[in-house]
Amino acid sequence: GDEEDWEARPPVVTVMGHVDHGKTKLLDAIRNTNVVAREAGGITQHIGAYQIVTELEDNERPITFIDTPGHESFTAMRARGAKVTDIVVLVVAADDGVMPQTVEALNHAQAAEVPIVVAVNKIDKEGANPAKIRQQLTEYGLVAEEYGGDTMFVDVSATTRQGIDELLTAILLTADASLDLRANTEQDPQGVVIEGKLDKGRGPVATVLVQRGTLRQGDSIVAGDAYGRVRSLLDEHGNKLKEALPARPVQVVGLTSVPRAGDTFLVVEEDRVARQIADRRQARIRNAQNASMRKRISLEDLD
Ligand code: GTP
Ligand code: NA
Ligand code: MG
Repeated sequence: GDEEDWEARPPVVTVMGHVDHGKTKLLDAIRNTNVVAREAGGITQHIGAYQIVTELEDNERPITFIDTPGHESFTAMRARGAKVTDIVVLVVAADDGVMPQTVEALNHAQAAEVPIVVAVNKIDKEGANPAKIRQQLTEYGLVAEEYGGDTMFVDVSATTRQGIDELLTAILLTADASLDLRANTEQDPQGVVIEGKLDKGRGPVATVLVQRGTLRQGDSIVAGDAYGRVRSLLDEHGNKLKEALPARPVQVVGLTSVPRAGDTFLVVEEDRVARQIADRRQARIRNAQNASMRKRISLEDLD
């Protein structure tokens, strides 16, 4: 596309960390909502994605946030999360310290060369020791600015909302200092599936993150081995959108089957082409499955 088609886009920020260190509650505090209370047992089971507009010093700037679960079984999701994101906010509970999924999350972020902002959470709690968190994380190459390093640490409480503005400021400073966040809105739309689910009323629904181009209602889309015509685009509040620009997470209704998290999506000219690509991908998956089944069977024959 032409030079003028490149436009500034919001940063995509993935919130990661050990189970129950307060990732979702922190996002609640940022969004002023109450997602934690709605989660079964307070356990995040899937990735949630939201765009918020910050108002700091009378400056309105959007940020896209992706929430991830901290449970051990979601390793693959953290790896994918690290890939789609511009910045990782690493949440560490100040009363608990660095734990296995803290280390796993920072490893994913460092492997993907994604800048990390550390949110030291739960500083309202008795036994909170934010200095100890800084000390612990130096072992992993995250040295706080106040200790001569270049990692921003922000003390926060998702409960009292202390430090939330400072955290948002740190995120925007990191975005401005180290990233060239532009996207071409005129290219063929592409992006990644954040999550897919089967909704009772609406059928297959995919939350996707648009990474380039502009996704529009009516587009013919292929997502992994699913395809269809975009019947509606919904934002995180369920409001209908006519189009979704880069860095916008959006729910897509109209697919014929449910794509998987991490699948890429693209838009094609005609429904027929979308179907052909999806059919080819399905055949490839079937062949791979058959091949691995045959391999299993022949290995069992050897026993
Ligand atoms: P998973 O998604 O299951 O990995 O957990 P999470 O990291 O999203 O943690 P969640 O937001 O569900 O919070 C876990 C528990 O910690 C909840 O009971 C929260 O109310 C509590 N909590 C989160 N942040 C704070 C905080 O800043 N202070 C206090 N006192 N409690 C907090
Ligand atoms: Na939790
Ligand atoms: Mg959570």
